[in-house]
Amino acid sequence: MTIRPVAETRHVVEIGGWLHATWWAAEGWTLPATRAFLRAAAGPAAPISFVAEEAGRPLGTATLDTEDLAGRPDLAPWLASVLVAPAARRRGIGTRLVGHVEAVAAALGHRRLYLHTMDRSAFYAARGWQALGTELWLGRPTVLMAKDLPGATHPAG
Ligand SMILES: CC(C)(COP(=O)(O)OP(=O)(O)OC[C@H]1O[C@@H](n2cnc3c(N)ncnc32)[C@H](O)[C@@H]1OP(=O)(O)O)[C@@H](O)C(=O)NCCC(=O)NCCS
Repeated sequence: MTIRPVAETRHVVEIGGWLHATWWAAEGWTLPATRAFLRAAAGPAAPISFVAEEAGRPLGTATLDTEDLAGRPDLAPWLASVLVAPAARRRGIGTRLVGHVEAVAAALGHRRLYLHTMDRSAFYAARGWQALGTELWLGRPTVLMAKDLPGATHPAG
């Protein structure tokens, strides 16, 4: 399995469809705008959207984003849009994608990464993330979490 920017692959249309159907449409993005974001999110700085692929097939995606929660524009960058194809789950791909985004963020000099999740806080807590509190995403409660990256000089909290 390899992890690369989606923009460098043939998977922009498919990953765009996944993200649009899962979260982005609810946030008001059109499908063409979602795909345009993925084509542009090629790095080297955030936003960068990644795809995990195996034998030419996309298995999952994650994004190092500059914003992900309308109510917290003060926080950045974000680990966002982590999604693994249902048939590929529980093989460690989600963990690899999360670790990849953490490593890229650290290599770019970021000292702290944020995410929010409505129902996967245990998954992230088991991978070193700390819950900071509850925020709202489209009017629904979501857990804000943070992780200090290698080189950080202050503890999460
Ligand atoms: C959350 C999500 C990204 C996890 O992806 P994944 O590829 O299944 O993640 P992993 O395989 O790394 O880990 C999932 C679990 O499988 C376990 N696992 C990993 N490899 C395994 C293996 N070979 N055999 C059995 N279990 C395994 C992990 O220990 C983990 O258990 P835990 O949740 O109790 O910690 C995926 O379930 C998903 O896309 N969900 C829907 C979207 C979503 O909720 N995204 C997150 C929003 S913030």
